Amino acid sequence: MDKVVSLCKRRGFIFPSSEIYGGLGSSWDYGPLGAELKKNVKDAWWREMVHRREDMVGLDAAIIMHPRTWEASGHVATFHDLLVDCKDCKGRFRRDHIGESCPSCGAKNFTEPRAFNLMLKTHLGAVESQDHVCYLRPETAQGIFVNFKNVLDSTHRKLPFGIAQIGKSFRNEVTAGNFTFRMREFEQMEIEYFTRPQEAEDCYQQWIETRRRWYLDLGLSPDRTRLREHARDELAHYAAGCTDIEYEFPFGWSELEGIANRTDYDLKQHATCSGQDLRYFDPVAQERFFPYVIEPSGGVDRATLAFLVDAYHEEEVKGRTRVVLRLHPRLAPVKVAVLPLLKKNQDIVTMARRLKKDLERDLVCVYDDTAAIGKLYRRQDEVGTCFCVTVDVQSLEDRRVTVRDRDTMRQERLDAQRLKEYFQEKSLLN
Ligand code: GAP
Repeated sequence: MDKVVSLCKRRGFIFPSSEIYGGLGSSWDYGPLGAELKKNVKDAWWREMVHRREDMVGLDAAIIMHPRTWEASGHVATFHDLLVDCKDCKGRFRRDHIGESCPSCGAKNFTEPRAFNLMLKTHLGAVESQDHVCYLRPETAQGIFVNFKNVLDSTHRKLPFGIAQIGKSFRNEVTAGNFTFRMREFEQMEIEYFTRPQEAEDCYQQWIETRRRWYLDLGLSPDRTRLREHARDELAHYAAGCTDIEYEFPFGWSELEGIANRTDYDLKQHATCSGQDLRYFDPVAQERFFPYVIEPSGGVDRATLAFLVDAYHEEEVKGRTRVVLRLHPRLAPVKVAVLPLLKKNQDIVTMARRLKKDLERDLVCVYDDTAAIGKLYRRQDEVGTCFCVTVDVQSLEDRRVTVRDRDTMRQERLDAQRLKEYFQEKSLLN
């Protein structure tokens, strides 16, 4: 883990938030390469879950919602962690994260557990009174439920169908740590999939498989990925089932995403609290009912971290350690680096720059001439760039360039004109 954290800082994937002021607990900023990687994760999700399906539509709801949303959803009353303070060293811990003794000083002198609500509060308007309290959403899901009727009325969808959303969520997590695994400000990719009650169980099973496949298709190791079904006593009182997709991080097996059968609980709650009819009307059976909801709910940051950890490899090459990020081409922040072999040769530089200009129309491409070729290759390997294209003296005569594959380090000479076709074949272009 330390190696991944250090690479992320050194190469501009992830920085501690507001670092010049000493950092802020559990907050992280994505640097130039991290922003690309995270965007690619979100794009891959949106493409597969929304654009490539006929039964899904997207949504982008506000972060600050009407405060009654969180009363209806149960978050005001029950979105709690139980906390204890160590009376000796004054450390504060989540009750379910510790055993009998204080993890800091070893004492067994705790206060009684106290409920601590995880929602972040703010005030809307100029008056900081209880009447103006609002919350930063702790999940994107409720933005979907409160828009169920709007989407239905505007799109005329028939069951089953889903609404997908990617966006920031906020939780005042008490115990943070493990890099970007648990943050106070993070992004979620959530789907609420509405179905007939009698079809909900099948639908739940299908979504578990669809979501598991998504991670594997983007390269996550199958032997470090597993499903964990929640035991009955772990389930929320309204849930008919929940399965986590877990990944074996260096700090142990941990949740990437949860897929839950939430029954008709949320729509019913919002219907009761808002007084609006949120039932679905079936035109064939001529009946109104509350659909059941299957919810695949994943974290963008956790997925990004898992892809990073999984891609990180060290290997011995000619007596030296090569660090390489074997990211899936769709996720790699940079697809191709164009490198001039001699940066003082103007003709080589001109050809390399032209190639870069041409390639950047179709894929994310960089030009780098700031070191000798061996060092440039190693830098690109370390950030997961799929291919390097090198222009040399010979290229000026035969218009051929060296293309080097990140994973195999194999090099081949290709006609510069054929590069796009070649990268298309390697699935870099779509
Ligand atoms: N709407 C259901 C829901 O929010 P959750 O299990 O609390 O369920 C879903 O969160 C996903 O959001 C988690 O599987 C995880 O990937 C991500 N997530 C939750 N809390 C997080 C945090 N503090 N930091 C980073 N990601 C988090």
